[in-house]
Amino acid sequence: MANHPDPHFAPEVFSAHSEFGANELTIGGCSAIGLAKEFGTPLFVLDELDFRERALAWKSALESSFGSHAGSVFYAAKSFISVEVAKWIAEIGVGIDVCSAGELNIALAANFPVDRIEVHGNNKSEAEIAQAIAVGVRSIVVDSFQEIERVARLAAAAGVTQNVFLRLTAGIEAHTHEFISTAHEDVKFGFSIASGSAWKAIEAVEEATSLRLLGLHSHIGSQIFGIEGFAIAASRLIDLLAKYRDHFDRQLPELDLGGGYGIAYLPGEESEVPMRVMSELAAVVKAECEKHNLQVPHISIEPGRAIVGPTTTTLYEVGTTKSVELDGGLTRRYIAVDGGMSDNIRPALYGAQYYALLANRISSRPTTSSRVVGKHCETGDIVIREIELPEDIGPGDLLAVPATGAYHRSMASNYNALPRPAVIAVKNGKARLILRRETQDDLLRLDVVEPERSI
Ligand code: LLP
Repeated sequence: MANHPDPHFAPEVFSAHSEFGANELTIGGCSAIGLAKEFGTPLFVLDELDFRERALAWKSALESSFGSHAGSVFYAAKSFISVEVAKWIAEIGVGIDVCSAGELNIALAANFPVDRIEVHGNNKSEAEIAQAIAVGVRSIVVDSFQEIERVARLAAAAGVTQNVFLRLTAGIEAHTHEFISTAHEDVKFGFSIASGSAWKAIEAVEEATSLRLLGLHSHIGSQIFGIEGFAIAASRLIDLLAKYRDHFDRQLPELDLGGGYGIAYLPGEESEVPMRVMSELAAVVKAECEKHNLQVPHISIEPGRAIVGPTTTTLYEVGTTKSVELDGGLTRRYIAVDGGMSDNIRPALYGAQYYALLANRISSRPTTSSRVVGKHCETGDIVIREIELPEDIGPGDLLAVPATGAYHRSMASNYNALPRPAVIAVKNGKARLILRRETQDDLLRLDVVEPERSI
């Protein structure tokens, strides 16, 4: 058992190889103080072994729960991707889900095996589709009738038969934030099963000779706990697989149930356990298939957050603090760090909550009601709305915010012309840069002075 002398250290929200040593936080055996000194702050510190272990855990859980019916894990690149991370994914034997030319090009730059790349997106450009077909991706998940026509035309022009999935909306209200819930009826994604457009899409794909329908796809949303929503989606998709078999007299070989598995952000919370989710889902899928006397199709999943989310901790340096009087004689302590909504937009966008730990020392002072804010020119630039932190935290201290691997660097912006932070991979006491910090020169690089042209 690791020894954690700081009572505020909550191992359940920090990456697996994080500890509170004698006097400071260490991640992957590297000192928080040393990392901040060497690489600057804000800094995304990615626990490489934790990432590999989580990716492998989802793969093993899928394979042991579904046995010969296991398809692939497709890591959702949108949660976080870099060339180095794409290489890890390739080594682990997991596939990748990309949803833009940018994400595809990162995978290709890592020499990612194209037969493990799945292309998503609700509005892929012709250029994106043509590139995906040209490089020979495994499958394209088609999202609209126009896209069926586009993919069919571009595949025919390239002289290939393209494997496709159809993205369907199963009509589910996932219990998560509206903006990250994706399978109720009134969304931009996919073909609705209830309205009959899913079946029309199936017929349209069947008519296109340059397309081969591999299977059906559903992604119900993100940061979801329990399998209820996944089970309903699986059951509705399996009903459709049965209808397909009855109508076309053959069975579709695959079913992709998307990602969305929830993780812990706050002390006391627990991330979804891959084995538990997969074995429960396997039982549902098998029972539903039996009901229709269908062979169990190959089942694939697309976790992003559940693989990378818990692996990364953001290190910030505290710049200023102040106490603000509240009604009723209370005070709130504002602790301003050197990043904020440009490296973590999730509190502003989804009301997401986070934990923070004083990382460079143990304080023996009592805690006080604090608000951790960034350095942007907005009141809503809040990292943590309310947290108890030692009252003596001040300039130069380091704050560690865990569970910041998914949708942080990948959603980072240059608001207020802040350079986006570096990502460091740590492992066994060694640290290396995998995505460098933007520089002031990077920020100026896009500015041009051009003579005007008549258009
Ligand atoms: N598959 C598809 C088709 C998706 O659209 C997504 C996420 C995933 C898989 C991966 O979902 P995950 O396992 O990471 O939950 N920015 C939001 C999350 C948006 C998710 C978008 N799609 C957030 O920060 O919570």
